[in-house]
Amino acid sequence: MNFPPELVQQLARAKSVAVLTGAGVSAESGVPTFRDAQTGLWAKYRPEDLATPRAFLRNPRLVWEWYAWRRELVAGVKPNAAHLALAEMEAAFAQFHLVTQNVDGLHQRAGCRTVIELHGNIMRTKCFSEGTVVTQWPETGDVPPLCPRCGGHLRPDVVWFEEPLPAAEMEQAIKATTSCDVFLSVGTSTVVYPAASLPFEALRKGATVVEINPQATPLTKQAHFVVPGAAGVVLPALWAAVKTARSTG
Ligand code: OAD
Repeated sequence: MNFPPELVQQLARAKSVAVLTGAGVSAESGVPTFRDAQTGLWAKYRPEDLATPRAFLRNPRLVWEWYAWRRELVAGVKPNAAHLALAEMEAAFAQFHLVTQNVDGLHQRAGCRTVIELHGNIMRTKCFSEGTVVTQWPETGDVPPLCPRCGGHLRPDVVWFEEPLPAAEMEQAIKATTSCDVFLSVGTSTVVYPAASLPFEALRKGATVVEINPQATPLTKQAHFVVPGAAGVVLPALWAAVKTARSTG
C-alpha cells in the first residue's frame, strides 16, 4: 500500500498523536457498526427504541437483552490488525492518546494501556437509579437484574442518546485533541456529537488530520489526508511505512 510521503513523514516526526476511533475499527473483528446498511446494528431497531433512557424505562427487558446480545458477540471476537497496530503505536510515540466511541473494549484487549472511552464500556454494568457501577448481583432471574443496594434495574454502563458524556473522559479527549501534531480519525461516520467535534477541533488547532474510512464522511473534505480503506488493512500498512521512515531517519 502506498501513502503520500508527506503523511508518512509527518507521522514519523510527530511528537504527539491523537486517535479517534469508531465502530469501523471493530468491523473487521466481526462487530457490526451502527449505520453501515449491511451490518447496521440499527438495521432491525431504531436507536431511540434501544439506546435512550426513555427506551430503557419503556422496555427495560428489550434494552437489556439487546446489550446482552452485543456483550456476548464482543466476548466471542478478537481484536483485529487495526487494534494491534494502534497498540504498537501507543508504545512508540512520546505522546499518544487513543479516544474511542466504541464500547467493546477491543482496544484494551489489543494491549492499549490508556483508552479514553467516551461512550462507556458494554462490559461494565451500573445501577440505573444510582449511576454507580455494580460488579456482582444475586441471580434472581430478573431481566434486567436488580441492584443489590437499591433494588432498582441494572443497565449497561454506556452513554445513551440524550445522556451527557463522562466529563473527565471528554476533558482528556479535548486535551489530547488540542495538543497533538497528528490526529487520526478512524472508522467513524463523524455524525454523533460531541465526539464528532474532535477532528474539527484538531483542524482548528493546526494539527495534521488524517481520515481512514472506506466511505466519505463530513470530515473528508477538510482532512489533510484521506485514506479510503479498511482500518485493518490501512493502519498496519501505514504504521509499517512510518517505522521504516523512522529507521532510515
Ligand atoms: P457508525 O456505524 O456510525 O459508522 C461506522 C463507520 O465506519 C462508517 O463511516 C463506515 O464507513 C466505517 N467503516 C466500516 N467498515 C470499516 C473498516 N473496516 N475500516 C474503517 N472504517 C470502516 O459508527 P460510529 O461512527 O462509531 O454512540 O458511531 C458513533 C456513535 O453512534 C457510536 O459510538 C454510538 C452510535 O450511536 C453511542 O452508542 C452513544
